[in-house]
Amino acid sequence: MKTWNSALLKERAFDCVRGFERRAGSGGLWNYHDSHAGPEPVTGPSLDPHSPDLVKPCRLAANHYVWPSAIYELLDTNVPRQIMEYSGFPFPKDTPLFPTKQQVLDYMKRYAKDVEPHIRFNTNVVSVRYRPNEEKKWLVTYRPVCDETEGGLKFSAAHPDKTEHFDAVLVASGHYELPYVPEKKGLAEWTAKYPGSVSHSKHFRHPRQFADVPGNLLIVGNSASALDLAYQTAVILQRNVYKSARSQATLPGGSSEYIKTVPDIDRLEPETRSVRFTDGSVLHDVGHVLFATGFLRHYPFLDEINRTATPVVTDGLRLHGLYKQCVSYNFPGLAFIATPRYILPTRVGEAQAVWLSKIFQGKLELPSIEEMKADEENTVQLRGDSPKFHNLMYPDDVHYAHELNRHVYSTPGWQSGLLPCEWNREDILYRASAVKMKEAYLKYRERTNGKRAASVEELQQTVGFKFEDVDWTEFKLRVAQDPRRVLENVPPLGSAAR
Ligand SMILES: Cc1cc2nc3c(=O)[nH]c(=O)nc-3n(C[C@H](O)[C@H](O)[C@H](O)COP(=O)(O)OP(=O)(O)OC[C@H]3O[C@@H](n4cnc5c(N)ncnc54)[C@H](O)[C@@H]3O)c2cc1C
Ligand SMILES: NC(=O)c1ccc[n+]([C@@H]2O[C@H](COP(=O)([O-])OP(=O)(O)OC[C@H]3O[C@@H](n4cnc5c(N)ncnc54)[C@H](OP(=O)(O)O)[C@@H]3O)[C@@H](O)[C@H]2O)c1
Repeated sequence: MKTWNSALLKERAFDCVRGFERRAGSGGLWNYHDSHAGPEPVTGPSLDPHSPDLVKPCRLAANHYVWPSAIYELLDTNVPRQIMEYSGFPFPKDTPLFPTKQQVLDYMKRYAKDVEPHIRFNTNVVSVRYRPNEEKKWLVTYRPVCDETEGGLKFSAAHPDKTEHFDAVLVASGHYELPYVPEKKGLAEWTAKYPGSVSHSKHFRHPRQFADVPGNLLIVGNSASALDLAYQTAVILQRNVYKSARSQATLPGGSSEYIKTVPDIDRLEPETRSVRFTDGSVLHDVGHVLFATGFLRHYPFLDEINRTATPVVTDGLRLHGLYKQCVSYNFPGLAFIATPRYILPTRVGEAQAVWLSKIFQGKLELPSIEEMKADEENTVQLRGDSPKFHNLMYPDDVHYAHELNRHVYSTPGWQSGLLPCEWNREDILYRASAVKMKEAYLKYRERTNGKRAASVEELQQTVGFKFEDVDWTEFKLRVAQDPRRVLENVPPLGSAAR
């Protein structure tokens, strides 16, 4: 993601800002590729975030590798473009309300253009180590992605690893790479008996993959992937899709009479090729099980840190030892961008990048370690010691950004660097209404033979879309004026963990 780089560069306080990216170009996971080679078939639960080489590139040609991404052929965004944009950098005017995957990739590439000279592409970071007694405390070791290194995975004497020293490291490597497949009774026996009959949403590309699946199709999960994959498959193949949901959906999903929601799985029963649910009901003749159960937090290059008494990654379900889900309090100079869930990673990334650039320059002091630990513990109490720890669902994401931004406004000369990304009234209205808006957008597409609406007005006129009511008191004065000019009483860092 560019924002960290841009925020640090704009501060002009660092001798060198360097990015490492193992893909050939910018755009992260928006670099869709339809290759199916590479990913391992699901043969049982995937629960270990520490195994090396779990995420592998596909070799397309000599020295040409692609890193599989969870993006699929017919994916459009699930948030409107207005709030997916980086500040001051709009999508082109003719972009639909919910851009296609290619439009997002083009947008990201254009945004990244001016920082690309600072990034080493085709470069896999293999370790990030902390040496507190050295002047520059962070050692980053990397290797080229090429045939000799088997795509960056193996050491090669022909292209020996290189190490550079830094004052600080921002990890912006994403967290949708390593599939999470939960333990379900009977899963290992099932995959042994019916090889290839279980997959993960990361490897889904198009509903046609399921056109010839005999029997029933079961999708596990009820979040963005499960909802969209069930919808696309039901609509395109006109066949029943069973969706196993253990909790209420909070993200948008299209509706179809072919989608049948069933409870959480109790067990898979390979002997009869059926799946039993927690209410005792049974689905017979199951041809394929698609786990849309999310991803593990996977940072193999932090192996040394993860072996200490204060690891960042344990079971991969949440990150540990971070203040505001961002900055490590055990390893000074280590921070993570865009780790929360249910956020707009562009906006949160921008707010975090500006905030971190002030911290790294010493303009913004972090609270004591005890206060930062207490802040993390508050979040555990509030949301749980589980993936939900990272949930920053609206309006929490807006409050989070406001909180970081207010810290930035308390620093001397805050106007000098990249300005914090602020939420104005319209942004909040779009954010509050994003789920309803996407559902209206899908309805509009159905009614117009696949046309993509360009504006909210079109949805209002054709499918009766209405914005959600927003409780403005929640946002107090902050959105009443240009927030960048509103210097409120800034609470001390560490207070008011939301
Ligand atoms: C299926 C799917 C759909 C999504 N749809 C939306 C959407 O509609 N709207 C939205 O706002 N967000 C969406 N997201 C969230 C998405 O994660 C963000 O939009 C955005 O891509 C996050 O950017 P990032 O830079 O943090 O991570 P990524 O895009 O994952 O980029 C991380 C980069 O780090 C590189 N990297 C990783 N490890 C190493 C290493 N060891 N060495 C060198 N480079 C490394 C990777 O190659 C990658 O390019 C979606 C996510 C998924 C999985
Ligand atoms: N643009 C789009 O349309 C689009 C499409 C797909 C994905 N995405 C994005 O991709 C990212 C990942 O989304 P995702 O849906 O793949 O992952 P996710 O949001 O982490 O959702 C995982 C789902 O699996 C369920 N689950 C987890 N463990 C389970 C278990 N043991 N048994 C049963 N169910 C279990 C979860 O239920 P609980 O909630 O109960 O834990 C949740 O419903 C998100 O950022 C999302 O917005 C976007």
